[in-house]
Amino acid sequence: MKRFFRLLSKIELIFFFLIGALIGVITLLLAFTPIPQNKEWVVPSEAIKKSNPVASNPQSIADGKIIYIKNCYDCHGMKGKGDGPKGGDFEISPGNFTKEDFQKQKDGAVFWKISEGRKPMPSFKKDLTEIQRWTVINYVRTLGIKK
Ligand code: HEC
Repeated sequence: MKRFFRLLSKIELIFFFLIGALIGVITLLLAFTPIPQNKEWVVPSEAIKKSNPVASNPQSIADGKIIYIKNCYDCHGMKGKGDGPKGGDFEISPGNFTKEDFQKQKDGAVFWKISEGRKPMPSFKKDLTEIQRWTVINYVRTLGIKK
């Protein structure tokens, strides 16, 4: 050990000390940086205009629930509050489907978000057909109804 330190000049020791201090300061800064608020997710106006071709009825809601449990529950949670088993894993919260702020969005906007995704929310263009994406919206609408 002594030989090792003799090999290093004082300047080198000071240099290593400063690097260490710098890493420490950066780590502390990162640890105390507040989690960013979800940035607004802007949907193109053309997409918002699309209306849901799947009528909302007990059958489509039941079908939508099956699609939801398989594809969305992990992050969004059974009640859509963003509290699924993986919902807390991300810096960005999955949102809350029970809130009016969410429910006042048009089906077209929700459809576009499900189709496109935005990290960590996956895109469902490939995994779900258009009809399946509209169907799951009929189920998501029921999460906003106060019981
Ligand atoms: C891997 C986790 C994950 C899965 C699986 C997932 N989501 Fe998301 N979802 C998110 C996250 C995180 C956000 C927030 C994204 C953002 O704001 O940038 C989000 C956002 C959304 C939004 C927009 C919410 C708002 O406030 O406007 C909708 C709608 C949505 N998800 C629907 C779904 C549906 C329907 C499914 C299943 C077909 C699904 N998600 C599957 C993580 C997920």
